[in-house]
Amino acid sequence: MIGSARIELATVDSTNKHAADLLHLTEVQHGTVILAREQTFGRGQRDRPWRSQPGLDLTFSVVLRPDGLDAGHQFVLAQFAALAVRDALQRIGVPDVMVKWPNDVLVGPRKVAGILIQNELQGGRVRHSVLGIGLNVNSDGDVDGALATSVRLELGRTVDPEALLTGLLDRLELRWRQALGHRAGLEADYRDALWGRGRWLPMELDGAPIEARPLEVDAEGRLLVELQGGAVAPFGLDRLRFGPR
Ligand code: BTN
Repeated sequence: MIGSARIELATVDSTNKHAADLLHLTEVQHGTVILAREQTFGRGQRDRPWRSQPGLDLTFSVVLRPDGLDAGHQFVLAQFAALAVRDALQRIGVPDVMVKWPNDVLVGPRKVAGILIQNELQGGRVRHSVLGIGLNVNSDGDVDGALATSVRLELGRTVDPEALLTGLLDRLELRWRQALGHRAGLEADYRDALWGRGRWLPMELDGAPIEARPLEVDAEGRLLVELQGGAVAPFGLDRLRFGPR
């Protein structure tokens, strides 16, 4: 089960890197959590730095072994993780939590959590996966200078990071079972949680500014958008980005 084994570190460069190093050295069981009080070299999407406040925020990674998952369907890992973070925040009363494609978690327009999933593929399947989560709990949030927030700022009170982690691990386990057993439900929940769905938003397509309307995500994890003029097409992160908020 997710969280039944736990490695706690005072300081580490990056919990994702630590998990990857462990996986090269030894058998790490599915669900093992690697939690660090402080990361000195936390990393996010596109190798951006991920900063958090030691002891105030949550930075951890989970080793996943998604038995036989087809590499073409690896986006289900992003869906399960983002929805679990959303669930855990909703359960403690954070309002308006949405998932910005592919897997940022926002409160209103502000980012509260980032997710970095690193998969090792073998023969067209996911051999194992490292799911890294950075959640701004009691800090002011600091996400690449972007519009950011924290749970404390949203609730107006401090929150025990350990209690939040316990709730989040529970939700990860529940959503994991859903990902294995009832993927249609997971996909429907992701669609409902999709930030900006149905709204015309500034985006960048192949580096050029456009306005587009996110509709949903396809099985490969591409965002289906309506373009001005009415055409609807799916795009991956290699071509499509959200524009400045
Ligand atoms: C992003 O939004 O760009 C993803 C941020 C992911 C940060 C987490 S913190 C725990 C784990 N270790 C890392 O170095 N990164 C992830």
